[in-house]
Amino acid sequence: MDKTFRIAPSILSANFAKLGQEIQDVIASGADIVHFDVMDNHYVPNLTIGPLICEAIRPVTDAIIDVHLMVKPVDRIIPDFAKAGANIITFHPEASDHIDRTLSLVRDSGCKSGLVFNPATSLDYLDHVMDKIDMVLLMSVNPGFGGQKFIPETLNKLTMARKKIDAYMEKTGRTIWLEVDGGVNANNIAEIAKAGADTFVAGSAIFGSGNDNDPNRYDTIVKSLRESLSKA
Ligand code: DX5
Ligand code: ZN
Repeated sequence: MDKTFRIAPSILSANFAKLGQEIQDVIASGADIVHFDVMDNHYVPNLTIGPLICEAIRPVTDAIIDVHLMVKPVDRIIPDFAKAGANIITFHPEASDHIDRTLSLVRDSGCKSGLVFNPATSLDYLDHVMDKIDMVLLMSVNPGFGGQKFIPETLNKLTMARKKIDAYMEKTGRTIWLEVDGGVNANNIAEIAKAGADTFVAGSAIFGSGNDNDPNRYDTIVKSLRESLSKA
């Protein structure tokens, strides 16, 4: 299995009044990916950020921007995020009437594509579209809010997803990332990695830590996430 672990801070929990600085500081602390949560107060009961903010942060970092769409419908907004500099776009299968077509739309727009699975959503959605997927994202909370508790059943589901992905990677030689999102922290990240995840979203655990005016405020948390990962 791919033993490269990636840490993806969810900027949902960042200080929006200083978003550019927050992103630069967290990447400078050793995080890998900017996780960008898009909510529409329709598919999920919360409202966050859109392509304008993605465009605004694009010049402040070279890091991958991983756009997690929690919007319904999804197709209309995908090219906008691609133009705004997104690198990866994931969406929930329940939010698209034509999943295969939406995955193609993401790729045709120039981004890596992925499907997101809510805690109760079956992994069966993967079976006929693996060739069009670059990332599988398992929600370990119900989407809509940061700061929720990790749902333990996600560990079983990660093991199942890992098996499907490994079988596919062995057959095709193509890499698919397995990301987990919700309630990840330094205490549970090793167990989550052991279950098969390679990419870890963490919002409140990262942005809730450290001292506001210290530019190195995220060093400690990112280091402790990595240290826990090294035990996996
Ligand atoms: C929830 C979002 C998550 C969330 C993670 O709908 O998709 O990315 O911000 O936040 P924490 O790490 O605080 O659970
Ligand atoms: Zn997310």
